[in-house]
Amino acid sequence: MLNIALPKGRLGDQVYDILASIGYDCPGYYEQNRKLVFESPEKGVRYLLVKPSDVAIYVEHHAADVGIVGKDILLETGADVYELLDLKIGKCRMAVAAPEDYVEDTDRTLRVATKYVNITKDHYGRKNRDIEIIKLNGSIELAPILGLTDVIVDIVETGNTIRENHLKITEEFRDISARFIANKTSFKFENEIISHMLKKLGEQIK
Ligand code: PRP
Repeated sequence: MLNIALPKGRLGDQVYDILASIGYDCPGYYEQNRKLVFESPEKGVRYLLVKPSDVAIYVEHHAADVGIVGKDILLETGADVYELLDLKIGKCRMAVAAPEDYVEDTDRTLRVATKYVNITKDHYGRKNRDIEIIKLNGSIELAPILGLTDVIVDIVETGNTIRENHLKITEEFRDISARFIANKTSFKFENEIISHMLKKLGEQIK
């Protein structure tokens, strides 16, 4: 059975729909319940619904053979997996945002709130900018509003969260989208089914 890690939520459902349409459907996937595992022994697949930020961990450690994960998570974790395909969905940008009236003082250490500690270090490291990172796990936009930090580094999709919290984007530095990934051992030993999925997913991409 091929274990497929899907991010819980809209992106995971979208990819499940594609896989279901090419023959990898699972009974009960859309039933309203708290189940986290769905399997179809006839189709040879088992879906694992995991927190989006954990998909790469499951795949790297071979708890899942393949998965769908945001490029932001791959960059942040540096997971040792094969990145097989850009699905061109779940698109967003990695951005820096600050209060609408913010003016940077380049003589001071920049205080940055983010979930993406490694991406942030890398970004400012390239500019030789001194920063202090405050790691948060969500609702990052609150940090500059409360004066906890000067700016945030976060993903922006529609821009609604930024606008509704009176922040402005000061920099966009990385396009993000969902990727189809595989465990390196699985790619070798389950190559037939993974290659078939890869081909079919590729055909669906516009
Ligand atoms: C993400 C991100 C932003 C928001 C961006 O948060 O951290 O807050 O989405 O989307 P938008 O540009 O379309 O408004 P998420 O919803 O994952 O919640 P979180 O605050 O718990 O991280």
